[in-house]
Amino acid sequence: MSEVTITALENGPLEVSGMSCVKNAAGETLKEGEKQFLCRCGHSANKPFCDGAHKREGFVG
Ligand code: FES
Repeated sequence: MSEVTITALENGPLEVSGMSCVKNAAGETLKEGEKQFLCRCGHSANKPFCDGAHKREGFVG
């Protein structure tokens, strides 16, 4: 089993490093990969993934 690390990037998304799979509530796979970026600002139009909107919205966190 590979190690997965989740890091909160300054003023940005959660960076998920390591092989991971993001699924929706129905259990359908949305994305698989070695690196993924998950929105934590709430402004992404492509949730749960970051689309860069945090920069436009001036997210601080
Ligand atoms: S953290 Fe990037 S769009 Fe929300």
